[in-house]
Amino acid sequence: MCELVSPSLKYRKTYLKALQEFHKEGLNMEIDYQSTLKNFNGLITYYQNFAKGINLPFGFVATTQYWLIDEKKYIGRIDIRPQLNVFLERIGGHISYQIRPSKRKMGYGKKQLGLALVKAKEMGLQELLITCKADNIGSQKIITYWEGEFIDAIERPDTAVREFRYRLDIEGALKNKPKVELGQIKKTKL
Ligand SMILES: CC(C)(COP(=O)(O)OP(=O)(O)OC[C@H]1O[C@@H](n2cnc3c(N)ncnc32)[C@H](O)[C@@H]1OP(=O)(O)O)[C@@H](O)C(=O)NCCC(=O)NCCS
Repeated sequence: MCELVSPSLKYRKTYLKALQEFHKEGLNMEIDYQSTLKNFNGLITYYQNFAKGINLPFGFVATTQYWLIDEKKYIGRIDIRPQLNVFLERIGGHISYQIRPSKRKMGYGKKQLGLALVKAKEMGLQELLITCKADNIGSQKIITYWEGEFIDAIERPDTAVREFRYRLDIEGALKNKPKVELGQIKKTKL
């Protein structure tokens, strides 16, 4: 069964494998492999504190991270930020996510956002701002699948590629999708 769970020691083995996959493509480099290998509980505590707004790095807001787990294996993660700051209102928004490279284009990205909408609703959110780079076709398809409405394209300080911003009505998105779609996952690579 595919589900969103809080970060947990239970998924240490497949999380670490996924971390190596991410590092190969230059993602998640801020999470050091050796330190995480030695002290996985430290990582869990870090995310628990982040959700409570404890020891936040400068400019960051409280963020709840969930891990997407299928058949007891780590597939990806999604971050929910109930409150935005000036930066996140332009780039970042309420939600960001990733799927480990070996599990992409199998429908997990769509599924993960759908499950996160339920979590965000439980956290009291009604409308989400979600942003992604103009060249990130996979992410755009995920957002529009869940009926995110395009707001605008803004300039980023770090690259010439623009940032697309979307507004997503949680209730509407969940109402319009049959429940079965939340549970549906293709098992083969496209
Ligand atoms: C973006 C990302 C989350 C997509 O995850 P995924 O599990 O592959 O997404 P899905 O399998 O649900 O695919 C959704 C749709 O996007 C398409 N898609 C996925 N990756 C794609 C790519 N690189 N190029 C073009 N289309 C892509 C899929 O074919 C699917 O299309 P469909 O709706 O026509 O069937 C994943 O590539 C990732 O983690 N990227 C790195 C981090 C990132 O970019 N995060 C988002 C930041 S805003």
